[in-house]
Amino acid sequence: MVHERVRRSDLLDRIVSAEEAARLIRDGMTVGMSGFTRAGEAKAVPLALAERAKAEPLKITLITGASLGNDLDKTLAEAHALSRRMPFQSDRYLRKEINDGEVMFIDQHLSETVELLRSRQIGPVDVAVVEAVAITEQGGIVPTTSVGNSASFAILADKVIVEINTSQPDILEGLHDIYIPTHRPTRMPIPVVAPESRVGLPFISIDPDKIAAIVITHKLDSSSTVLPPDAETRSIAGHLSEFLLNEVKQGRLTHALQPLQAGIGTIANAVMHGFIDTPFHSLKMYSEVLQDSTFDLFDAGKLDFASGSSITLSEEKYREVLPLLPSYKSRLILRPQEISNHPEVIRRLGIIGINTALEFDLYGNVNSTHVGGTHMMNGIGGSGDFARNGYLSIFVTKSIAKGGAISSVVPMVSHVDHTEHDVDILITEVGLADLRGLAPRERAATVIANCVHPSYRDLLSDYYRRAVARGGHTPHVIEEALSWHAALRETGSMMDAGAR
Ligand code: COA
Repeated sequence: MVHERVRRSDLLDRIVSAEEAARLIRDGMTVGMSGFTRAGEAKAVPLALAERAKAEPLKITLITGASLGNDLDKTLAEAHALSRRMPFQSDRYLRKEINDGEVMFIDQHLSETVELLRSRQIGPVDVAVVEAVAITEQGGIVPTTSVGNSASFAILADKVIVEINTSQPDILEGLHDIYIPTHRPTRMPIPVVAPESRVGLPFISIDPDKIAAIVITHKLDSSSTVLPPDAETRSIAGHLSEFLLNEVKQGRLTHALQPLQAGIGTIANAVMHGFIDTPFHSLKMYSEVLQDSTFDLFDAGKLDFASGSSITLSEEKYREVLPLLPSYKSRLILRPQEISNHPEVIRRLGIIGINTALEFDLYGNVNSTHVGGTHMMNGIGGSGDFARNGYLSIFVTKSIAKGGAISSVVPMVSHVDHTEHDVDILITEVGLADLRGLAPRERAATVIANCVHPSYRDLLSDYYRRAVARGGHTPHVIEEALSWHAALRETGSMMDAGAR
């Protein structure tokens, strides 16, 4: 079994325990680990590190692709093993440590991390820890359910630890397309011309001498936590479909649309699921996380091809998809996240990006990351890569949160991730605001008419009326602009902003 997975025989004597491999990592080091939205993370070495950090001073800078599964971010944070963390996380405990100032979190566009490492603006990476299905005869590392930043971590690090996970099916081999851009400013164009373009190698190519340790593991990826579609997300999907059908009618798109990207989480997954009940067909995805909805769309005959950086599924979907992976494989590619999220490729392929906002404002500025303007939720992830560069930049959210105590449509966002210049379409279950070609005052009118929850409509209209009376290209009552957030903090409800 092990010989089938570690096929370069001179590496077999590098197989060690996770504890022994973890000894290569010392206090103060920067470690690049595989893992992207709970898929394909190194599983044993981080646990061994957490154990060590309980007994001796050990704090690392941890860089990954995106969030880790198997509660690893929590376990590492609880052991106080993290001093710095980038570029994304989604764990409640780590979030608390970040918001308490215990862990320095660098919230980064997912396409950017390895560019910064490669050009030595951050780093260097001392050790890379990469989960793999196999090591080939040539010493190539075959990733598992995600590629993320693993390839560049392995290329840039001094030492590489490979975790061979025997529970990851060997059918994954051949799914990956590892393309590493050349150095700037003489970089050649990235030859991806369609979601199905294969432009690289099916494994990570490094000098096998850098593989300092191999650890055998068996633990599965953790399943995704997305909830099934509900009445609101169905309604959001309905508005999106109606809008896109009109684009077809206007001759701007065909029923095959253009390659789709969908953000992480319950809402984006549900909105993609909504494409099943539409007349669209021959769809393609050029996205980052492939969630349950990708496979539902394959099964419904709607989707022809999906390119991403990870596959993150619910437990039920994983059980369904795994035995059928051979039949899906010819329609799937997993790429490094700098390629799946590359601004130039996104612009050139004309991606329709669908991401989720925590809140947006009258003028179309979007906050995806900071609750109340101060407290980190997950991070910007790839939403900025797609929003800035896509053919259409769409943001979706439910119009209210926490039982109506929060309006997701506010006078001014309390933190800006995506400026009004990057946002074309806003959708809540109430309706859709098409902001293309509109000036700020026109944007405000369409957001109030179409997106705000009825219980907040009068409050927002009243704010806007008073703002307009003061004048300006982008009118605001500046001393009141964040009063909804202040009311939420002080009384527990934005509704009280009107009573103050
Ligand atoms: N203020 C405060 N909290 C809010 C809120 C707001 N305006 N809007 C939503 N929330 C809360 C919800 O109540 C929910 O809280 P809970 O976890 O305590 O139940 C939580 O945010 C998640 O919201 P939910 O409605 O379940 O949406 P989701 O699972 O689709 O996640 C984001 C939404 C914005 C958190 C998520 O999409 C995200 O992290 N996005 C940024 C990164 C990104 O877009 N990546 C895409 C490419 S990687």
